[in-house]
Amino acid sequence: MSQESRKNSLTQQTGSYLPPLHGKASAWVCGSEEAEVLYKQALENPEEFWAGRASQLLHWFKRWDKVLEADEERHKYRWFTGAKLNASFNCIDRHILIGRRNKAALIWQGENEMDVRCFTYQMLYTEVCRVAHALSSLRVRKGDRVALYMPMIPELVIAMLACARIGAIHTAIFSGYAEGGVRSRIQGAKAKIVITADAAIRAGKKKPLKANLDPILEKCPSVAHVVVVNHANLEDVKMQPNRDIWWHDLVEDFTLDVDFPCERMNSTDPLFLLHTSGSTGKPTGVLHSTGGYLTYAAHTTQWLFDMHDDDVHWCTADIGWITGHTYGVYGPLALGATVLMFEGVPTWPKPDRYWRIVEKFRVNILYTAPTVIRSLMRLGEAWCERYDLRTLRILGSVGEPISPEVWQWYYRNIGDSELPIVDTWWQTETGGAMIAPLPYATRLKPGSATRPLPGIDATIMRDSTSPDMDTSADRQSGHLVIRKPWPGIMLGVYNDEAKYQSYFSRFGCYESGDGAEVDEDGYFWILGRIDDSINVSGHRLSTAEIEAVLASCEEVGEAAVVPMPHPLKGEAIYVYVVTRDEVPWTDSLRKKLVETVRRDIGALASPEYIQFVEALPKTHSGKVIRRILRKIASGATLEDLGELTTVARPEVVQHIIFGHQNILLGMHESASMDVERDHAERAGE
Ligand code: WT7
Repeated sequence: MSQESRKNSLTQQTGSYLPPLHGKASAWVCGSEEAEVLYKQALENPEEFWAGRASQLLHWFKRWDKVLEADEERHKYRWFTGAKLNASFNCIDRHILIGRRNKAALIWQGENEMDVRCFTYQMLYTEVCRVAHALSSLRVRKGDRVALYMPMIPELVIAMLACARIGAIHTAIFSGYAEGGVRSRIQGAKAKIVITADAAIRAGKKKPLKANLDPILEKCPSVAHVVVVNHANLEDVKMQPNRDIWWHDLVEDFTLDVDFPCERMNSTDPLFLLHTSGSTGKPTGVLHSTGGYLTYAAHTTQWLFDMHDDDVHWCTADIGWITGHTYGVYGPLALGATVLMFEGVPTWPKPDRYWRIVEKFRVNILYTAPTVIRSLMRLGEAWCERYDLRTLRILGSVGEPISPEVWQWYYRNIGDSELPIVDTWWQTETGGAMIAPLPYATRLKPGSATRPLPGIDATIMRDSTSPDMDTSADRQSGHLVIRKPWPGIMLGVYNDEAKYQSYFSRFGCYESGDGAEVDEDGYFWILGRIDDSINVSGHRLSTAEIEAVLASCEEVGEAAVVPMPHPLKGEAIYVYVVTRDEVPWTDSLRKKLVETVRRDIGALASPEYIQFVEALPKTHSGKVIRRILRKIASGATLEDLGELTTVARPEVVQHIIFGHQNILLGMHESASMDVERDHAERAGE
């Protein structure tokens, strides 16, 4: 949503919702008074607070010498130094030791209704140990990188925990990424092993993964072996001798009763690497620590979702994203909960799939994204009305701002007008939620992620580069920053110290790249990215990465990529292209460019519109003025743009506006329906 329209909806919004306290005495944090005590403790003595949480929630082989070692000059924050632990031990072994061996750890629902697999903690242990042995036989050692290019299947969780057991660093690559996206991530990580599957199953179709990978691997010399899960029984999977091996053949060699001892990891050793879109064409490899990250994952999972022993927790995000790591795997398993994992999409075979699953498994906690709710909302209430959703206790939202209208729909139709909605603001880099309500303590305001969690020192800062920020209002707006370190903060950016430092260079503390407003009650309203990222359906994409792909096409002279508001996706991708001399502006060229982006990065990055232009608006020094392009894509007229004195050739702007209006007039119904269908299918990721 554009900042303008968001602000409009914010001003219309008045009501707020009290937490439902009736019968909730057993909540981890019950009522605002109890919460205030925690906020105060965390504020006054953060190290004691975090140390308390770390010892309550995790098993440490050895206790820390120092809670936090901070190098303020280099912005290095090391949590629980001197301590030893293992994430796999915390997520599996210790639950077995305390009598949870027969509890379901993981319930998997495949796309086919009858495809269900369930792993108790004991079963998970057995599989993880086998895979750890198997990986170890392929010479995977502590510190090695293992890339996971896998669909949403139990083997993905097993592989993550097997890596953690060895101390190898897993790096998940979203299975919807295409060639360029996968290649840059494998190369960036210098992965030794890639684990994949023959295919993913989506909306009744098999989408090959192994075949996608083969051409990519020609340019990835670090990869010694590829392990392939036979998930979809795809025929003719090509296996390269000496390099490729089937998962089932590999693990078969390892007997069931051999424990794989957990590596005693330092708290500050990396647990995983996950790439997010950066400000350049190259993805940013965010590295997370073992002790700090796991503490923060378990802590936030427990408080945000008020997680209890008997809960079935369903985080609908794909594990290829940070949400799936923290709230689909590490957080809930560290707490010994039961996680539900679903491979399919919300609309297949029918748009009732989520509600069917909630009823079937008696789900208690549902954590999903506004983009999913928007697509289901559009298809009508009838799809959820017929299901028994009464087991639901807490609803969550993540990935992008949830508008008050969508919030209300979720609240009424899924939450029966009584369940708390935890709108959680965070990022790949923060490891876990930062701004979010405590479900049985915080008064909710639809559309606001409410307040920073205890111990999180978030605030708003302004500088001269925030011209779009509103200064007149009584609400404060500016850059959303975090002033003090927290255990979930990334360890660093893999092999790119300069990139890591860039998060701290402007304000001297962690800069999120988001704009936000704070209202009179101290509630945060996220306005969206103010850097060059686009948030499509809750996923961060970098404009530079898409521009680089377009620029590689011979027909393209210059390209600029900006966000545009979109009713389902939140933001969509709008592209301005200056073609090379003599290249005609045709629909077939548009199609080709869209195809190129889809093939290289993935369907998620598909441009919504491509506008051919004579030139891009530039400053006198030749810098593209994105602000103008962004406004035009959001529907601004010449009057809305105001003074154009900084533009070298102002007539260019007028042409672009004219061209934009023509594009809107020529919008094809059928094309937008395709987009809707495609979106509805993909939303669950
Ligand atoms: C960006 C982070 C960690 C969640 C998955 C995305 C946007 C995330 C919210 C929210 C408004 C949100 C921000 C943030 N975002 N959650 N509740 N309200 N905006 O992780 O890919 O690292 O993207 O997602 O813009 O910076 P990510």
